[in-house]
Amino acid sequence: MIRRYLVMSTVLVSVGLAGCKATPPGKYESRVMASAKHHLLVGNKKQKNPLADNLQTRADGKGAFTHYCVACHGMDGQNTGVPFADHMSPPVPSLTSPEVQQYTDGQLKWVLDNGIWPSGMPGSKGILSDDELWSIVVYMRHLPPAGSLGEPDFYNR
Ligand code: HEC
Repeated sequence: MIRRYLVMSTVLVSVGLAGCKATPPGKYESRVMASAKHHLLVGNKKQKNPLADNLQTRADGKGAFTHYCVACHGMDGQNTGVPFADHMSPPVPSLTSPEVQQYTDGQLKWVLDNGIWPSGMPGSKGILSDDELWSIVVYMRHLPPAGSLGEPDFYNR
């Protein structure tokens, strides 16, 4: 609760500040806007996942995840073997963390479509199909234990 209150008040202060200046947003505003986006602006809350949660969908999601997401999130979605994960700003989160898992399926799809600007999390709209993205959302609900799938092999060559 306290944390949420702090985020809210920082957002309000920064909106106030941004309103009085005609300069482009600085580092401070960008960072605050990023967290505002996380907590307040991630849209699509109510959209339902059109895919059934079954073994086939999970396997499809795992396949797409392994192609497009492992470079930053690791094979297990928990950054295992990703050497720079903690050095990105903000760092790459574990996809099993409560902060990520508390999003609805619709919100996760929104994050995948649009990415999180201005961090390193890219948007995939137009690169992956809706079905691939929804299957990744299903897979993200069933991530394996940390480390159980090994490390992305391209960092070990
Ligand atoms: C180039 C590195 C990179 C790639 C590729 C990448 N991500 Fe991310 N991802 C990040 C970073 C960095 C963050 C932290 C963003 C932030 O907190 O602002 C993140 C955050 C997330 C979040 C949490 C967002 C939030 O609001 O807390 C989810 C969910 C996610 N990524 C899923 C994926 C999926 C699924 C894929 C593949 C389709 C993917 N990412 C590809 C770097 C990446």
